[in-house]
Amino acid sequence: MRALKDSQSTIDTERPVVDKDPATGKDFQADKATSSFYQLLRHEVSTGNPNLSERQQRMLQSHYPVMMAPERFPEDLVTAIYTSRRSPIVDAIRRDREAVVFDAGCGYGSESFLFAASGARVLAVDRSADQIVIAKKRQRFFEEALGQTFDIEFRPADLNVYSPESNNLSLTWLASVLAVVPDQEGLLRRVHRATRTDGEIMITDMNLLNPLFLFREWRRRRWFIEQSPEFRRHANFFEMVRRHERRGARYFKTTDGDDVDDVQFFRPGTLAELLRTTGFSPAPASYSGFIPPIPVGRHEPLERLFARIPLIRKFGYFYFMRAQKTRPVTEFFV
Ligand SMILES: C[S@@+](CC[C@H](N)C(=O)[O-])C[C@H]1O[C@@H](n2cnc3c(N)ncnc32)[C@H](O)[C@@H]1O
Repeated sequence: MRALKDSQSTIDTERPVVDKDPATGKDFQADKATSSFYQLLRHEVSTGNPNLSERQQRMLQSHYPVMMAPERFPEDLVTAIYTSRRSPIVDAIRRDREAVVFDAGCGYGSESFLFAASGARVLAVDRSADQIVIAKKRQRFFEEALGQTFDIEFRPADLNVYSPESNNLSLTWLASVLAVVPDQEGLLRRVHRATRTDGEIMITDMNLLNPLFLFREWRRRRWFIEQSPEFRRHANFFEMVRRHERRGARYFKTTDGDDVDDVQFFRPGTLAELLRTTGFSPAPASYSGFIPPIPVGRHEPLERLFARIPLIRKFGYFYFMRAQKTRPVTEFFV
């Protein structure tokens, strides 16, 4: 990555730490910027990116079923959930003139565009070479729409073994990814090594404390049990929920030779424990996804209300957790 190797040359030292919105002159608001990016993303996914082939467009659209079914998933609800999970990282990027973000498991690259548009240099990695090709082809659309040039390096790599070359990451973003990695602790230790002191990791995914998600995951596994004797022998739903004697995701074969996954999801408690083990200091989680997608009324105020109610908030469909790489104790004595 050009900018990672030559970090000083591309830093905009003129940019103030807290930005002004050029349109209003008011302080930059991460939630507004994030929800406005979401509208652009939704437009690109649903109407088509001219730089993608039809097959690539279909692959992208299948990654975003919620965007493709607005009659089932009300726009204000989906926007509120998208925004609440991403605005903390947009805010963190805007407060750091030298933000270097590792988008780990970047998929089709959508969040990399959001981070780059917010001012970060981005290293974006995914195991799927096809998705990396599509991410690269999508970039021009967002650069043209936003009138910016992005500093993103997209790279195919397996997070189970990959170590970022930089030791200067300010932020790592893991959205719906950590659960599918076999060696979760190893990945977090490698990220920790590559992160600056006071840098952060931000993780968001579905919450094992949410009864609907828990039921869906249980049902998905019932089906796998029928398909794969190996899965039936080794996978144990309750051990996954407790994270008992587990390192991460496991993969088994069906009798037809297809893959089935024994994904290791998290409750905020088990994730916080793993983060502490790997040298991070987690902050309390926040949550979203409380309201069922009923296509009547306004959802955002209710979402915000539930997110604040003690105890109930812990059962949101999604969690978001951030954790800091704290200064090593010895540095205090230097
Ligand atoms: C559910 S998608 C999430 C993508 C993106 N973070 C998002 O929020 O849209 C999970 C992604 O993780 C990638 N992935 C799964 N296992 C991986 C691994 N071992 N190394 C790198 N990427 C992996 C998949 O290819 C997929 O793009």
